[in-house]
Amino acid sequence: MPKLTDPVSFRCGLVSKNRVALAALTNQQSEEDGTLSRDEESWLLRRAAGGFGIVTTCASHVSASGKGFDGQLGIYADGQLPRLTELASGIRERGALGLVQLYHGGVRSPSRLTGTQPLSASSFQEAREGFEVPRAATLQEISGIIEDFVGAGVRAKRAGFAGVELHGAHGYLLSQFLSREMNTRTDEWGGPIESRARILREITRRLRAAVGEGFAIGVRLSPEDYGFARGLDLDETVAVAAMLAEDGVDFVHLSLWDFRSRSKKRPEEHALPLFRAAVPRSVPLVAAGKIWTSEDAEEVLALGADVVALGRAAILNPDWPIEHTREGWQPRRGPLTPAEYAELAVSPRFATYLKRFPNMVAQD
Ligand SMILES: Cc1cc2nc3c(=O)[nH]c(=O)nc-3n(C[C@H](O)[C@H](O)[C@H](O)COP(=O)(O)O)c2cc1C
Repeated sequence: MPKLTDPVSFRCGLVSKNRVALAALTNQQSEEDGTLSRDEESWLLRRAAGGFGIVTTCASHVSASGKGFDGQLGIYADGQLPRLTELASGIRERGALGLVQLYHGGVRSPSRLTGTQPLSASSFQEAREGFEVPRAATLQEISGIIEDFVGAGVRAKRAGFAGVELHGAHGYLLSQFLSREMNTRTDEWGGPIESRARILREITRRLRAAVGEGFAIGVRLSPEDYGFARGLDLDETVAVAAMLAEDGVDFVHLSLWDFRSRSKKRPEEHALPLFRAAVPRSVPLVAAGKIWTSEDAEEVLALGADVVALGRAAILNPDWPIEHTREGWQPRRGPLTPAEYAELAVSPRFATYLKRFPNMVAQD
């Protein structure tokens, strides 16, 4: 079994110096027009300096109409490139592979942020306060969305990032297409899982053709329903991972939320070995979800992952990849005050967003 400190190679030719990644973390620090702010840059560069082999940006919208959060990073316009280029250089200089997570919110892109009714694979209702019923994307709009993802990926390459992670998880647009419940289309973009996965496959293939080798294209998937993600089936998600591996993705990232949980569909099994069996060994599996200690991380590698991705532990422990090798070291846990967060390159704005997550923020 590999160690966390061992390098890991991707078939595009890139190598991460270790097996510890910073997971994509929305932090609401970008400017109104999606331009990277100094605070957001500091937050990411601090983790690159702290030894993370892979540093992933927050979910970054690929079109103005795909915006899902206030203060979200954008990668849909060339005007956003100069600041992204500075970030990519900073991450590279600190020895990490920088990835941009490419995102479209679909039904989670509210008109308040985009000025237009949300779209999705199909129209549907949800019993949620303030829910805006989406309209089904037209064929032309689907082509446009694919182009937006490819355009954003090409922009990430031009900025000097090592690669991108397609956000196919958590019930956002690409996950809405994968969903049996949110995608009830009867054309070639809906129906059997091969068709519901078509949009992700098209993006992967076209992006690969546009960027060539030497640039990582990964995908993040939710194996099963959780939070906004619904209508996902474990076996279908395993099949999607295998299809995407065939199409040329460099890694598959499984968002587990809690790595200790067994699968919902087959409670006697863990999802990771199922994905490991279906995806060729040349395609590393990344896994995230309540990984705090090195023992947790090693357990995740033992289950079949090649790389661990840290979210909350990385917010609280910017030097995790360096510190975890020290005998007896224990990660810091929340809650922290905004003043304490500021010392970890987590600005008051990010700390405010963290209040929605239990046990993260204490009163100043
Ligand atoms: C503040 C915060 C922001 C997040 N933003 C994103 C995001 O932009 N994209 C994404 O795929 N997941 C996002 N997630 C999920 C994390 O990447 C991660 O999978 C999850 O927090 C579980 O890992 P953890 O227990 O190590 O935090 C976010 C989680 C948190 C806590």
